Amino acid sequence: MLLKELILKGTETISSLYHDREAKEMVYAFLEHQLGTKRHTHIVEPMYEVADDQAEGALSAFLRMAAGEPLQYVTGFADFYGRRFRVTPDVLIPRPETELLCRNVNEPSEHSATIPTILDLCTGSGCIAWTLALEMPGAEVTAVDISDGALEVASSQDFAEETARTGALPPVFVKADVLAGPSASGIAGPYDILVSNPPYVMDKEKALMRSNVLDHEPHLALFVSDEDPLVFYRAVADWARTLLKPDGFGIVEINEALGPETSEVFRKAGFFRTEIIKDLSDRDRFVRFSRS
Ligand SMILES: C[S@@+](CC[C@H](N)C(=O)[O-])C[C@H]1O[C@@H](n2cnc3c(N)ncnc32)[C@H](O)[C@@H]1O
Repeated sequence: MLLKELILKGTETISSLYHDREAKEMVYAFLEHQLGTKRHTHIVEPMYEVADDQAEGALSAFLRMAAGEPLQYVTGFADFYGRRFRVTPDVLIPRPETELLCRNVNEPSEHSATIPTILDLCTGSGCIAWTLALEMPGAEVTAVDISDGALEVASSQDFAEETARTGALPPVFVKADVLAGPSASGIAGPYDILVSNPPYVMDKEKALMRSNVLDHEPHLALFVSDEDPLVFYRAVADWARTLLKPDGFGIVEINEALGPETSEVFRKAGFFRTEIIKDLSDRDRFVRFSRS
C-alpha cells in the first residue's frame, strides 16, 4: 500500500472518534514511530510503498485508536521532558503539566543541596523520578507506588545509556501504600525534596472526562472519592513531616478545582511558604511547601 493511502485510511478511521486534524496528527505520530517516516515523506516521495505486513499492523493499530485506546498505549511509549518512557495500561500516561513540576524542582535556585536526595510518592511510570535523577546526575531518588504493574514499568525504563554516560543514578523503586504513612514503608530518608503527583480526580469529575482516558487509563492512578478528595495530600504531608530535612521542600501536583484547600492541608500540617503555582493555562496546578 502507498504511504499516502495508508495516511488517508488511518485519518478516516481515527476521525470516527477524533477531529480530523487530531486524527491526522495521531496517524503521523504512529507512522513516525512504527516506520520511521516523517510527516512530509508521502509528499516528497508520493510513490513511497509500505510493506503489506507493516500496513496491516498500522491498520489494526488505527482501529484500536478509533476505539479510544490512547496512542501511547498503542505504541507503548510516551514522550516526557525530552525522553521516551515505556507505558502500559498499568500506568498513567505522563502529562505535559507534570513536566512543569520537574522544571520547578530542577530550577538551580530551588535546591541548595548541590546533589539532592529526592522522594517521589505515587511514581506510576517513574516519569518524575527518572527525569529528576537524569537531570540532576548524582541525585539519589527513591520512588514509591502501590501498584506492582506500575513498579514493573517504572523500574524497566531504559535509560542505561544515559546513566552510564552521565553518572546519573537510577531511582530506587519501593512498593508501599502512601496512605499507610512512612513508618510502614521502611523508607528512612531524610530527603531534600519531596515530589508527588497522586490521584486527585474526584469521582464526580468522571462525567467531564473523555472516554479514551476513562476507559483505558488505570482508575487507581486517577480517582479519589468526592467525600475526601484530599486524602493523598494529608498523607503526603505526613511523609514530608517525617522524612524532609529541616531545609527541605516539596512540590505536589493538584486538582485545579482545589488549589486553596490543598495549600491549606500543608499550611495546617505546619509547613511554611505554602504557595500555589499555576500551569501554562493559568490554572492552579501545584502546591509548593517548605519545612522552614
Ligand atoms: C496520578 S498517577 C501519577 C503517576 C506519575 N507520577 C505521573 O506523574 O505520571 C498516581 C499513581 O499513584 C499510585 N497510587 C494509587 N494509590 C496509591 C497508594 N495508596 N499508595 C501508593 N501509590 C498509589 C497509582 O498506582 C499511580 O501510579
